Amino acid sequence: MSELLEVEDLTVTFPTTRGPVDVVRNVSFTVGRDETVGIVGESGSGKSMTSLAVMGLLPKGARTSGSIRLDGAELLGRPERELRRIRGDQMSMIFQDPLSSLNPYYTVGLQIEEMYRAHRDRSRKAARQVAVDALAQVGLPDPDKRVDHYPHQFSGGQRQRIMIAMALVCRPKLLIADEPTTALDVTVQAQILRLLAELREQSGTGMMFITHDLAVISSIATRVLVMRRGEQVEYGAAEQVFAEPRHDYTRMLLESIPRIDDEVAT
Ligand SMILES: Nc1ncnc2c1ncn2[C@@H]1O[C@H](COP(=O)(O)OP(=O)(O)OP(=O)(O)O)[C@@H](O)[C@H]1O
Ligand SMILES: [Mg+2]
Repeated sequence: MSELLEVEDLTVTFPTTRGPVDVVRNVSFTVGRDETVGIVGESGSGKSMTSLAVMGLLPKGARTSGSIRLDGAELLGRPERELRRIRGDQMSMIFQDPLSSLNPYYTVGLQIEEMYRAHRDRSRKAARQVAVDALAQVGLPDPDKRVDHYPHQFSGGQRQRIMIAMALVCRPKLLIADEPTTALDVTVQAQILRLLAELREQSGTGMMFITHDLAVISSIATRVLVMRRGEQVEYGAAEQVFAEPRHDYTRMLLESIPRIDDEVAT
């Protein structure tokens, strides 16, 4: 049986005035059902472009080659109307910036309902109950009241939870989380990570988790892909990559993790 997600030799190219530039080059990895794969790398290394390629949401002008299969079915080259059916339903993404992906003019409930009704033929009333339940599931207090509030009425951490609720409302097989905790303080970050791990255990969602923080990866991922300048420099079981990094860049990333005993040593 095929893995949940199989990315093979993915290359993403942008035309520039100085000729085509590969922002992702020959990247290959798989995500198993019920598995979390961490993608780590410095800013600009191609983490978001890799995720957007999987979602079929690359900026205009981008060209792709290689193969991206979800449950064995090729996604690259699929017509937009088919991708639209798959996105939000079989796979969804929590974007890097939650404020820019929530519409400020609509209540969060309405936005979750619309996401749901785009894929499920259900009444407004049924969808509203689904939205309330989704907010409850991500641990938002008073979900039946909060469902009628607007994005600006929530804190950053709460908005991140709302994004997660929206991404999971159709029970996707694959969830892509692009730095979902970067903008949050450490305590909220830990809560969100715990929440994602719980949700994955409950619903068996496969996850791609993008961050530039290796400490976060080591707490959540079973496999890890290290990217640098569009290329994969390391890929394997998280424990193995952490124990025996093969690339200097990975070693450098590992050394930059603050350790608890650092303070004691000085
Ligand atoms: N619309 C675009 N056209 C051309 N190149 C782009 C475009 N958007 C991004 N890039 C380039 O693609 C490369 C990869 O960007 P990407 O957003 O995937 O990085 P990232 O690893 O997600 O970084 P960060 O950690 O900062 O989010 C960068 O060099 C960036 O400059
Ligand atoms: Mg990014």
